[in-house]
Amino acid sequence: MNRDAIGVFDSGLGGLTAVKALNELLPNENIIFFGDTARVPYGTRSRQTILRYTKEDIAFLRRHPVKMIIAACGTVSSMLGAELPVKDMPFTGVVYPAAEKAAEVTENGRIGVIGTPATIRSGSYETALHSVNPHLDVTAMACPLLVHLVEYGYTNRNNQITRLAAEEYLTPIRKAGVDVLIMGCTHYPIIREIIADIMGDGVKLLSAGEEAAQYAKICLEQQDLLTDSTEAGHNIYYVSDSVSSFRDNAKNFLPDAEYGQVFSSRI
Ligand code: DGL
Repeated sequence: MNRDAIGVFDSGLGGLTAVKALNELLPNENIIFFGDTARVPYGTRSRQTILRYTKEDIAFLRRHPVKMIIAACGTVSSMLGAELPVKDMPFTGVVYPAAEKAAEVTENGRIGVIGTPATIRSGSYETALHSVNPHLDVTAMACPLLVHLVEYGYTNRNNQITRLAAEEYLTPIRKAGVDVLIMGCTHYPIIREIIADIMGDGVKLLSAGEEAAQYAKICLEQQDLLTDSTEAGHNIYYVSDSVSSFRDNAKNFLPDAEYGQVFSSRI
């Protein structure tokens, strides 16, 4: 039993897709979220830079009472690969939990992956998927514009600019006949409706952040680290850029971010 918070970080808003899932799965847990909004996006940067930012993000979370850390960022998780940047408490990224789920639910063995340029370049999801099942056929596509569109709030289902960009990226994946699509960047579930419209009914969409939240729950259960509190948990948000722009965008999909405690902090 442990009443410390679960620490979650991302380059920006995308990690809130994991926070939302954690709130639903573990409503009594406190969450401390850090979004590096002053330096988003990570996905167009070099591996070295992303790993330096990752170290700083983790160090920031560790200055708070946390019992587990989740890198709710496909890009960070991809740069880390199998490396564990935290050894004294549970840690997870999003790649392996999403890959395991995809391998489990696919019926035709064809899986699509979308992610940032750094994620797709790293081949992280292919590696993870093939470690579960070497026969899976993986079609991966980098979607460099989508993170910007989400961060700017172009998330409405009818937004023509986002729809056009998503069609451009997703058409080859749809044509490959996948039955599962891993949204391998945690920003993408925020435009899930647009992605679902383009992929069609037969394709199951997996959110990497949600799968990481599921994994975190199992991990905390197994290590007897869940809280014994019966009160509703609280989310505290830290961002490295302005609080107001965070609130404006985050409220579209996580109402708690509009009203809860949000602080701007230098890391
Ligand atoms: N949310 C991120 C991811 O899952 C990162 C987006 C970015 O900073 O480029 O990859």
